[in-house]
Amino acid sequence: MTVILPQGKFDGYARNGLAGLAPDDELTRIGPGTPCGEYLRRYWMPIALTSMVQDLPLRLRRMGEDLVLYRDRSGALGLLHLLCAHRNASLEFGIVEEHGIRCCYHGWLFGNDGTILETPGEPKTSQICNRLTQGAYPLVEYKGIVFAYFGPVAEMPAFPVFDTMELPDDTMAPFLIPSPVNWVQVFENSIDPYHVTFLHTRVSGVQFQENLVNLPVVDYHERAAGNGVFYTSTRRVDDLVWLRVHDHMLPNFSQNGGMHVEGNDSTYFVRTGLTRWVVPVDDTNTITIAWRHFNAETDPHSKGRPDLCGFNSVDFYGQTDGRSYEQRQRSPGDYEVWVSQGPVTVHAREHLAATDAGVALYRRRLRRAIRAMAAGGTPQQPTAGVTNPIPTYGGDTVLRAPLRSNDDRKWMSDLSRRVADIYRSGDTLLGTERIAAIRAGLAALEGELQ
Ligand code: FES
Ligand SMILES: [Fe+2]
Repeated sequence: MTVILPQGKFDGYARNGLAGLAPDDELTRIGPGTPCGEYLRRYWMPIALTSMVQDLPLRLRRMGEDLVLYRDRSGALGLLHLLCAHRNASLEFGIVEEHGIRCCYHGWLFGNDGTILETPGEPKTSQICNRLTQGAYPLVEYKGIVFAYFGPVAEMPAFPVFDTMELPDDTMAPFLIPSPVNWVQVFENSIDPYHVTFLHTRVSGVQFQENLVNLPVVDYHERAAGNGVFYTSTRRVDDLVWLRVHDHMLPNFSQNGGMHVEGNDSTYFVRTGLTRWVVPVDDTNTITIAWRHFNAETDPHSKGRPDLCGFNSVDFYGQTDGRSYEQRQRSPGDYEVWVSQGPVTVHAREHLAATDAGVALYRRRLRRAIRAMAAGGTPQQPTAGVTNPIPTYGGDTVLRAPLRSNDDRKWMSDLSRRVADIYRSGDTLLGTERIAAIRAGLAALEGELQ
C-alpha cells in the first residue's frame, strides 16, 4: 500500500528558530536600576486594595521588590522593605504598634517613613537610629485603593486625581486581578480595539454587546496633556454611529468607555465604566488594579454587579483564571490571551499588521519615554498643565446619522475627529460643567448630521 504524503507549505522546520528569540528587555524589565523600572518609579502606582490590609502585616511584591504593607494602630498605613535592616528577618512577622511596626526578632521599631524609633537591645548610647533607616515608600489611600510612590523622594510628583475619580452620582468598586505574566502584554490589551470584534464577539460568542460585531473604524487622538492618546472605535448601528472612546496614558493608565452601553440610542459622552492601571509585581507577574464605575448612564439597565468586585474578582467576562480549563478553551477571554502569550511575550516573533497601530504607537512612545528619562529628562506627569481633577476622555457617544451612500468608513473617521475636538474643547472646565459643555457640543453636531 502506498501512503500519499501531505502536500502544502509546512514551514514548521523553517520557522522553528523563532523559539530562540528574546524578549524586549528595554520595555519589559522593571527591577531597580533597569531603564523601564526607573521610569515607572516616577509615577504614583496603585499597589493594593484597602480591604487587603487587615490587622496583620501583608507581604507584597511590587516593582520587583519584596515589601510589607500594614496599617498601624493609629490607622496610618506603612510600606517598608520586607527584610528588617538589622538582620533580615521578615517584617511580615512583625508586630503592628500604635505608630509603626516592630520586628519580631530583636524588637527594632520602625516608623511608617522608615525611621528607626527604637532598638531596645542596644546600649542607650547607640547611634543606630540616627545613621540607619528601613527602606520605606510614601502612600496615598484613595477610595479603597492604596497608591505608592517608588521613586526618589525629592522627585515625588503630585498625586493624580482623574475626573472620573470624582464623578457625581457614581459608585466606585475597586478590584485587583493578578496575572502570571509581564505587565506590558496585559496593558497592551487596552490599546488593541480590534480584538473586541473577534475575541469578545465573533469568536467566543457575544461576551459584551452584539453591536460590537462589526469591525470598527479606529482613530487615535492626541491628548491635550499627559503622554498618551484617546481613541475612538466607530461603528455604524443602523442609522446610528457609535463612537466608543477609550483613554490611554503612559505609562500604565487606561480608561474604557461605558461598560453596558449598547449603541442602540443616541447618547452623548457617557462616562467610563472602568478606570484602570496595570502594575508590575515583577518581570513575570502583574496586577490589574482598577475601579469599576456604576451609575445610571454607563449602566442604564443595572446589569453591573459591584458585589462581585474585589480581590481576583470582577463583574465582567473573562478577566481571571476562575473558570475551568474547558470553559476557558471554549470561550476564551482577555485573561486567556494575555497569559497565553507566555511569561514575557517575545515581540521579535510577532508580525504586527495594520490593526496593531495602537500597540505599535504605545511601544514607540513607551520606548521614547524610557530613553528620555535615561538621558536625564523628567517624565511627563498627567497632572502637568491641566485642571485638577485631570480631564479624561473615556466615555461613549452615539449619534443619530443617516448612512452615507459612499465611503461611510472615511466619513466615520472624519466624524470621530470632530467628536474628539468637542471632547477636548472642555479641557479647561471642571466637573458637571465640562460634561454639560461637551454634551451640548455633541448635540449640536448631531443636529448638523440630519
Ligand atoms: S532582625 Fe529585625 S530586629 Fe533583629
Ligand atoms: Fe478585551
